[in-house]
Amino acid sequence: MSAYALGPLLHEGKAKRVHATDRPDLVAVEYKDDATAFNALKKAQLAGKGWLNCQISALLFEQLASRGIPTHYRGLGQGEHAGHWMLVRPVRIIPIEVVIRNRAAGSLCRQMPISAGTPLDPPLLDLYYKDDGLGDPLLTEARLAYLGLLDGEQRTAVERLARAVNAALQDIFERVGLILVDFKIELGYTEDQQLVVADEISPDTCRLWDRGVQDASERILDKDRFRQDLGGVVEAYGQVLKRLQGVCPEPLIYR
Ligand code: TMP
Ligand code: ASP
Repeated sequence: MSAYALGPLLHEGKAKRVHATDRPDLVAVEYKDDATAFNALKKAQLAGKGWLNCQISALLFEQLASRGIPTHYRGLGQGEHAGHWMLVRPVRIIPIEVVIRNRAAGSLCRQMPISAGTPLDPPLLDLYYKDDGLGDPLLTEARLAYLGLLDGEQRTAVERLARAVNAALQDIFERVGLILVDFKIELGYTEDQQLVVADEISPDTCRLWDRGVQDASERILDKDRFRQDLGGVVEAYGQVLKRLQGVCPEPLIYR
């Protein structure tokens, strides 16, 4: 017997579908094979990507939890939901994308006089307003205050949590020979107002370079392979999962 019954679709994003369940404290997230970039200007179906991102996210959420970092994750799906579904706590997502950059890449290099790969110490933290229609614009202090999405205390808590996630992820990826260049996370509040890491953490949302490879294209093991038409996207994600499996316990199944 299954631990929950699937309810209606609550939300469909570019890479995931979120479904209600018959339990108010549980929602089911289905990872899709759809790949998009540049706010969905570029689209493709990549067979196996949903499964890989779901497994990678599960491992990383469990690693964060084991280090005392709260997340929405509760376990992987089973039965017909095995593989590319996970069960999570319902959260009210803060419509802000928190990006931490340990090295320069991507939009930072397009917008600033800084070359790709330059180490950033302390890591740079940028907040973007999560709105595809507006192209997820970079937030200034004044714009953040205008939107009124976070008060001072909440802002401090968001940044502290994001930096703790960065420290944990850097350590995990370091152990498997990967450089965490940068990543995006989304945070939310549970019903009891706990701030938790939500959404996903995967090669769709992180830049990961293979530490042992010098070539600037070959070392890329993340969505930049898709953005830059480098090929081997699913293979690269598979490499990330395989390495993480080498140091992480099997993710738990929600029962
Ligand atoms: P950026 O260099 O394009 O600003 O991206 C920084 C990081 O955030 C990179 O790891 C990719 C990730 N990211 C997302 O997960 N979603 C997005 O919509 C964007 C623009 C970036
Ligand atoms: N996530 C965004 C999109 O799907 C942007 C990106 O990752 O490049 O379009």
